[in-house]
Amino acid sequence: MRVSLEQAIAELKQGGVVAIPTETVYGLAADATNDSALRKIFAIKQRPADHPLIVHIGDINQVQDWVTTFPDVAIALASTFWPGPLTLVLPAQPHVSRVVRGDEPTVALRIPKHPVALALLTQGGLSVAAPSANLFTQLSPTTAAHVEAGLGEAVPVLDGGACDVGIESTIVSVNADGQWQLLRPGMISEQAIAVVAERAAHPHVPAATGGDAAQPIPKVPGQHALHYSPRTPLLLFKDRASLKQENERLQLAGLSCAAMLLGDGDVPNCPHVNLPNSPDKVAELLYSTLHDLDAMKVDRLLVELPPNLPIWLAVLDRLSRAGYR
Ligand code: TXA
Ligand code: MG
Repeated sequence: MRVSLEQAIAELKQGGVVAIPTETVYGLAADATNDSALRKIFAIKQRPADHPLIVHIGDINQVQDWVTTFPDVAIALASTFWPGPLTLVLPAQPHVSRVVRGDEPTVALRIPKHPVALALLTQGGLSVAAPSANLFTQLSPTTAAHVEAGLGEAVPVLDGGACDVGIESTIVSVNADGQWQLLRPGMISEQAIAVVAERAAHPHVPAATGGDAAQPIPKVPGQHALHYSPRTPLLLFKDRASLKQENERLQLAGLSCAAMLLGDGDVPNCPHVNLPNSPDKVAELLYSTLHDLDAMKVDRLLVELPPNLPIWLAVLDRLSRAGYR
């Protein structure tokens, strides 16, 4: 069910949930100060209760309502990248809902860049917790139609068009001493974070992710090995030749497939989407392409991986959680 901005604000104030657009992915929003509203998010998503949620705020001055300390490095990062696809995890004030925190001593905050999300937060005077508006472990939505296909028509959706970043925000935790750590890669790179953080003269705790998507997944609540996955089994390939070889093998076995390729070219007898060979474009189109390929109901999805380079880290992270090598 589509709703207007005014209806969305009213619904959220009454303790309801509404799917809202952000620049990254659509979020399933509820008033971040209302525990019974927040529990509805977990129920609809079928998400485990110990997974913390990101609180979306409309103004940097609201940070102090949520945290015990806002270290210089976090101020520098927020001033540089907000509104935008950066989430900061900071020490939480004791009053912050345990439902939002997933019982962690910290709270995750971000100011989204999408004009509709910002209008909702500022006009409504709201702070909303919003995980991606999909069922737990499934593909994140980047359009209102994806939300409806995944969660059903009963969930109110505020349509703000297609998301232009396309994958979830970069998450950085900052402790009271100003030490920071990358918890989830996103389109704001670790290098870009480091440049701003170093200017604020604060140390970096080496992250478990580093520059290599093949490294172990960091211990972050709510990050699962298989996440962001389509219903169709998805296979990942380091190069076009091995993808084509697998396609031939599948054809011989009588199985159908569809492929996502980087750059030009084709795969015999296999419908495919050619994405432009650019990290920003692939991120923007990644989930919508996977949603489209999934809807074809073939036996296997074959995905060509981008090179293992830092600029591709966030896309590699999402793909490695969506399928198998
Ligand atoms: O781009 C995004 O971040 C989107 C849009 C809607 O804003 N939201 C999103 O939410 O990706 P979600 O629930 O899918 O991911 C939230 C993740 C959690 O799974 C967890 O890894 C991390 O944020 N997180 C949240 N609070 C945390 C905390 N207190 N400590 C550590 N990690 C936290
Ligand atoms: Mg999610």
